[in-house]
Amino acid sequence: MQTRPQLRPGPLSPRRKVPRTIARPSYALLGEPGPTSPPRARTAEELANMRIASDIASEALAAAAAAIAPGVVTDALDEAAHETMIARGAYPSTLNYRGYPKSTCISINEVICHGIPDLRTELCDGDIVTIDVTAYYGGVHGDLNQTFAVGEVDQHAKDLMEATRRALEAGIAAVRPGGQTRDVGKAIEKVVRKRFGIVHQFGGHGIGPDFHDGLHIQHNYDRRGTERFFPGQTLTIEPMLTLGSPDARVWEADGWTAVTIDGSRCAQEEQTLLVTEDGAEVLTTHVPH
Ligand code: MF3
Ligand code: CO
Ligand code: CO
Repeated sequence: MQTRPQLRPGPLSPRRKVPRTIARPSYALLGEPGPTSPPRARTAEELANMRIASDIASEALAAAAAAIAPGVVTDALDEAAHETMIARGAYPSTLNYRGYPKSTCISINEVICHGIPDLRTELCDGDIVTIDVTAYYGGVHGDLNQTFAVGEVDQHAKDLMEATRRALEAGIAAVRPGGQTRDVGKAIEKVVRKRFGIVHQFGGHGIGPDFHDGLHIQHNYDRRGTERFFPGQTLTIEPMLTLGSPDARVWEADGWTAVTIDGSRCAQEEQTLLVTEDGAEVLTTHVPH
């Protein structure tokens, strides 16, 4: 196995185009999402469109994942996801969200989240890579991500990815109306059993007409998470687990790329959920690893 070149910001492809006929979120033009809305149940129409947005994001994630191979640049994955979203009439939610320049986040190894796909960074045999896709359709967003192996990865990476999947499952199983947001982190800590770091500087979020609304989900246990779930809410759970330190810092060079402070690898899994009368329903669908 060759050694991977150090990760660093690379040149970006020209700004991707979205057909004029595709409806855009309010921030698409100037980059600012505006005030966040208070929590409320989704209407039947919002929910119907969230199912479609989530399905489109899932299909785009699968398209990007299908392009994974050693030697492929991260921009190629972004392009595959972008083309899938616009072909289905969706706007890639990350494009110009708070100025973010691309249609996906692609995060390799020690990158926790918000890696910016570029024209120079190649996937290498032995890497793990998280692809995060959000689609905007019918006035609402659907958001998911998953970590994949590039070629053959070591046992530490396999264990990390497996634990991350289980963390997401445990988090989802902990959601019920009347329950508290801190139940999620509690359930995740229980399955992680201190074997891995749990990133605490980024969390899950309410999602719907806003990409990120006022609801925050911590993935580690925090007793302050006393807000209660109610039926009709929609949110993401997206645990990030590390092989070393759970602490993150953001690259100064681009203001986005979040890495572990000790360079240890990180895996993530995210789905968009609906709080039902007796638990949670997953609106996004994962692709096989
Ligand atoms: N999709 C990410 C999430 O799970 C957010 C990406 S925002 C961006 O919440 F601006 F970095 F793209
Ligand atoms: Co999210
Ligand atoms: Co996401």
